[in-house]
Amino acid sequence: MHAANPMRKRILGIDTPVPLLDGSHVPYVNLDNAASTPPLVDVMDALNQFMPFYSSVHRGTGFKSRLSTEAYDHAHEIIAQFVGANPDTNTVIFGKNTTEAVNKLSFRMNFAPDDVVITTLLEHHSDDLPWRNKATVVHVNATPEGKLDEDDFDRQLEKYAGRVKLVAVTGAANVTGYITPFYRLARKAHDAGAMFMLDAAQFAPHRKVDMKPDDDPEHIDFVVISGHKMYAPFGTGALVGPKEFFLKSAPEYRGGGTIDLVTPDEVHWAGMPDRDEAGSPNVPGAVAMAVAAQVLMDVGMDTIAAHEAELTAYALKQLRGVPGIKIYGETDPANVSEKVGVIPFEMAGVSHFLLAAILGYEGGVGVRSGCFCAHPYVVHLLGLDEESADDWRQQMLGGDRSNMPGLVRMSFGCYNDHSDVDRLTTMLYRVAEGDYQGDYQLDRASGEYTPRGYTDRLTPYFRLKI
Ligand code: ALA
Repeated sequence: MHAANPMRKRILGIDTPVPLLDGSHVPYVNLDNAASTPPLVDVMDALNQFMPFYSSVHRGTGFKSRLSTEAYDHAHEIIAQFVGANPDTNTVIFGKNTTEAVNKLSFRMNFAPDDVVITTLLEHHSDDLPWRNKATVVHVNATPEGKLDEDDFDRQLEKYAGRVKLVAVTGAANVTGYITPFYRLARKAHDAGAMFMLDAAQFAPHRKVDMKPDDDPEHIDFVVISGHKMYAPFGTGALVGPKEFFLKSAPEYRGGGTIDLVTPDEVHWAGMPDRDEAGSPNVPGAVAMAVAAQVLMDVGMDTIAAHEAELTAYALKQLRGVPGIKIYGETDPANVSEKVGVIPFEMAGVSHFLLAAILGYEGGVGVRSGCFCAHPYVVHLLGLDEESADDWRQQMLGGDRSNMPGLVRMSFGCYNDHSDVDRLTTMLYRVAEGDYQGDYQLDRASGEYTPRGYTDRLTPYFRLKI
């Protein structure tokens, strides 16, 4: 797919010019796909076709309600297919995003006080914090370069034998892109009597997710995904898991749509997924996510993976030559199959906040910097000791984020190509030589840098009137 990547023309806004500090314009280069992807044109087209017919679902008798209901129901089926779930035994529950999906599961697990959730140091906060106030959470260690330490996984599973109710692991780390051996971990979790949740927020846009048959020892019990990370940023994510599991107990959110019958004293909960989709759902979001899933399946996850591996190898080679650059996680272009297209790095003597700002204001390149909603993992990757961590943590809690450690991250989507990497590396060479224009000033409260005297003029592009 490298020569002329056919996915580029399927991305909305791929050639949209954005302003630079010097007043010129360049097409935006988005290398922040691990945070959010732009929408597919296919998704926008489908929504434009669908929205004139949009209406209430599961409760209206009019044509538009019937059409919307069918579209919404089909969206469930398409997402089940996307993650390889058996639709007879599994249910797809739509919600806002992965974070909401993990939170939902954390309530629906109905943990007992002694229960343990095993997760890992590689997680973003959304596969960590939801468990913390409901069970004992054990974080499996990472190797110094950031891979899952599977020996520690085995040790923790053994140490908490009999108490582990759930193992919840990311498919790919959002900071390094490292892929975890999640099928093997699922098998081990099942052998230990636990269920297994795959956080596929970062994995699903890059590789095929397959929950495998229910009786397979490597079966994934629960999968969580986000539409906004797979080219459908319209506020929908999904939790997929066994119908039987959810039917065993009452939903944590209650209200319209969740019931079969209500009397003044009794409630009879609906079947799945209605029981766990309280209130009027985000139908356009579900339709958008289903269309995006269909496009990814049509293009083929293997094709996408091969393209991103080639691009990641290219980027690693290009980055290596830039003075002062240190790459974290996998640095060998020969090993890119072990990760999805995410590369965290730093430049000696330049704060990650400043570097990200210069890339944005002077290069038209969008990246993310900082700790990427994965503070413990980034602290581990940077090899920071607890004593120094205490200093900057206190400063941050005191409202000064200027010394917050962190990295700059480039992350690929299926549409990025060599030209995107080249724009980034050209800018990095310039920064390394001090060849940038702005006089950047630090805002201590946010840690962010902005060029002195520059104000974004957003009105010609988009701005809500207030
Ligand atoms: N988890 C998202 C990221 O990595 C928010 O940027």
